[in-house]
Amino acid sequence: MRRYARIIGTGSYLPPRRLTNNDLAAELAQRGIETSDEWIVERTGIRARHFAAPDVTSSDLALQACRQAIEAAGVSAQDIDLIIVATSTPDMVFPSTAAILQHKLGIANGCPAFDVQAVCSGFVYALSVADAMIQTGAAKRALVVGAEVFSRILDFNDRTTCVLFGDGAGAVVLEASEAPGILAAELHADGSHVGILCVPGHVSGGNVLGDPLLKMDGQAVFKLAVGVLDKAARATLDKAGLTEADIDWLIPHQANIRIMQSTARKLKLSMDKVVVTVDQHGNTSAASIPLALDHGVRSGQVKPGQTVLLEGVGGGFTWGAVLFKM
Ligand code: UT7
Repeated sequence: MRRYARIIGTGSYLPPRRLTNNDLAAELAQRGIETSDEWIVERTGIRARHFAAPDVTSSDLALQACRQAIEAAGVSAQDIDLIIVATSTPDMVFPSTAAILQHKLGIANGCPAFDVQAVCSGFVYALSVADAMIQTGAAKRALVVGAEVFSRILDFNDRTTCVLFGDGAGAVVLEASEAPGILAAELHADGSHVGILCVPGHVSGGNVLGDPLLKMDGQAVFKLAVGVLDKAARATLDKAGLTEADIDWLIPHQANIRIMQSTARKLKLSMDKVVVTVDQHGNTSAASIPLALDHGVRSGQVKPGQTVLLEGVGGGFTWGAVLFKM
């Protein structure tokens, strides 16, 4: 009998400071940077985002999301035997945010804890790794988290990027099960596109060398994203022996409503079958998919037994999809 990994609880957390487009535009105007609610909504669908306070880290946001997910799962934190955190804004260079999170959650059972770095595809990567570890018997009950404080790496003098991103965290508890959970996954990367979305700086000899702020060629990312997401979706459905008609919910990475609409159109899905949070959260990178999933579950949209396709795409260039029964 196949051993599946099933999602048994979801959780999420947004830091309290919420900025509408008008709030952000007013702050940017003080720096002489011009933008508008109209431009941001028309090009991206974003209306607001949340920014963490300066002393709040990714593991702080993750902690809140994980507590919710663990409570929703009805398990004890001590029963978690694997922690994977997807983040591009870790608390420290090392140790991993996952190890820091393990301690904050009070989990003292010695379970493995590590980070996955695949930028906006990070959650899909982390979920896929946890699924593989559960299928092989290496883990029974995993906490898979996406957590970001992207506001820390934004260049607020670059209006083409700083209006797009936000902070937050989302988490799921995965459990080994005989009943279907994750059905199929696809992961990909093409490192030849490193330069189109990156934070090129690094720490060397006690200094930051290179630019530590986010750089993006938005149009290049847009074009690549639309093509690879469709292919990844179809390959994942094929692996599970399903078609697009079997999808109850598409939960794509929440970067831009236009990319999400294009992906849905190619899969012949109406936007009624797409969970959308980009308007309220902006692009929270690795946190965007679990934030949207938790929103879908808590709002009553995503129900037990339904078939859900998650899709991620981002820096690297990385992309992937995970198909599961809720
Ligand atoms: O999470 C990883 C995945 N990331 C993404 O998926 C991002 C993908 N890319 C995109 O979402 C879009 O390319 C953007 C939203 C980043 C940009 O939209 P666009 O339709 O590609 O706009 P553009 O870059 O062609 O810029 C159009 C105009 C330019 O002015 P000119 O040259 O036509 O005079 C920009 O200078 O819009 C201007 N512009 C702005 N205007 C007001 C750029 N940013 C802003 C801004 N406010 N914030």
